[in-house]
Amino acid sequence: MTRPTKRQAWKALEKHYAMMRQVRMRDLFNNDPQRFDRFSLQVGELFLDYSKNIVIDKTMNKLMDLARASNVEDWRAKMFAGEKINFTENRAVLHVALRNRANTPVMVDGEDVMPKVNAVLERMKRFSEAVREGLWLGYTGKRITDVVNLGVGGSDLGPKMVCEALGSYARLDLRAHFVSNVAPSDIVSTLKKVDPETTLFIVASKTFTTQETLANAHTARRWFLEHAKDEAHVARHFVAVSTNAEAVRAFGIDTENMFEFWDWVGGRYSLWSAIGLSIAVHVGFEHFEQLLEGAHAMDQHFLHAPLEQNMPVILAMLGIWYTNFFGAETHAVLPYGTRLRSLPAYLQQADMESNGKSIDRDSRWVEHATGPILWGGHGTNGQHAFFELLHQGTRLVPCDFIVAANTHNPVGHQHAALVSHMLAQTRVLMWGRTLAEVELEMREQGADVATIRKLAPHKVIPGNKPSNSLLMRDHTPYTLGMLIALYEHKIFTQGIVWRINSFDQWGVELGKQMANSILPRLLADEPVTEYDGSTNGLIGRVKSMMHP
Ligand code: F6P
Repeated sequence: MTRPTKRQAWKALEKHYAMMRQVRMRDLFNNDPQRFDRFSLQVGELFLDYSKNIVIDKTMNKLMDLARASNVEDWRAKMFAGEKINFTENRAVLHVALRNRANTPVMVDGEDVMPKVNAVLERMKRFSEAVREGLWLGYTGKRITDVVNLGVGGSDLGPKMVCEALGSYARLDLRAHFVSNVAPSDIVSTLKKVDPETTLFIVASKTFTTQETLANAHTARRWFLEHAKDEAHVARHFVAVSTNAEAVRAFGIDTENMFEFWDWVGGRYSLWSAIGLSIAVHVGFEHFEQLLEGAHAMDQHFLHAPLEQNMPVILAMLGIWYTNFFGAETHAVLPYGTRLRSLPAYLQQADMESNGKSIDRDSRWVEHATGPILWGGHGTNGQHAFFELLHQGTRLVPCDFIVAANTHNPVGHQHAALVSHMLAQTRVLMWGRTLAEVELEMREQGADVATIRKLAPHKVIPGNKPSNSLLMRDHTPYTLGMLIALYEHKIFTQGIVWRINSFDQWGVELGKQMANSILPRLLADEPVTEYDGSTNGLIGRVKSMMHP
């Protein structure tokens, strides 16, 4: 099969890049008053401005040629039709079915999965309402006040990010906690904050074999029984979310209290499934449903909009433009506001675990760069931490800025100030400041020639740094659903163009195996010799520190 770099469309982009690398966005804006209108797009509640990119019409056309030549449309149809596009694990990729609000049949192996999707949603609704309304009580008859989600990776990052993001919808008397790390201080510090009589643990693990989650679940269970004394009370305080009923039973949770999902839901795409139970309990099932509605709206847009007006495809192809032609190594996600502070960490897993691959669909090494290092942080805090490198560093870091026009917590002009900072950053990154501009300003401020000569170069901001701006009127469950689905489909599209499997994670699996092999050796007395010199040496050294 044709490698991406051999495609006509790829070669055309290489040629086009040779010209575009000289282009300054300042000039593009100066020469085209319509640029903002032409390179922006409203989809439902989300508005995207992508005019601050180093692109002209020709660039976008060529990028869309590449998307088309890569059969993005066919692969998109395959995903929605439940074909087993996760070919290394022989699985369908159907997180879109979890939020298929149209309820049209979605077939996997000849079976419509929608009835079981709806049945689990119904159970989540009943359960979360019972907890919220005080009908599901703890073992001493008290209302649940704290929900602790025990999970890691996709079984943690998604629900944690959403619970934080929708904090304005949460009830103050029903708190959500997230324990993910096997490092004991994570669970220990959380258990210090909660009361066994009023705490509900959700053990969230797709496989129910993940060491971190099971270790934390066992610790939580021991702690609970130290107080409750009777195994019979476990059922009121522990529920499971998993695809693995047998392992849930073996852990000691009645499968009556298990919320099911399926192998066609990838871990990093699972917040829409019962993995979202903590969301439903914390912010209410109606808001969880609105989240699904928003994602469904984005799914429909992705499925039906022509590539040229397709928001996830536009973002994907811009990412490819910078990764594969400009050589950008990283991509920054910069939400403005505190509630979205965990979005970069969430998207880091979604993007890097999906597209951090180097073997293509024909099992060959790729000849091109794949997923970027995704990182970021929330504004304005990031401005006082890492933005200097974005402005004056030597690297090209394409950025996504995200903000809601309104806040749930209006205080004076504080929210307007937040928005002004975001707009200022996109402007400065793109426009920069030339030496002549700096010199003029310094002269006007009365600086002498020697000072100007010395200081002016330091004050030059190169500019021409690309960014996308995503705006929404209000930060709601619906817009959040749209936003997350937007990134999921962006990641999907890039994976298709790069011809990789975005849905497995064999590197992570090997790391897990190795940790399982090292743990017993770390606990044993015998010296360890079976690994490489460094690993053997480190094991020996750490053992001597553990037992001096
Ligand atoms: O980090 C690897 C991974 O397999 C992720 O894909 C997944 O989200 C996470 O582990 C947790 O897995 P599980 O839900 O099976 O505990």
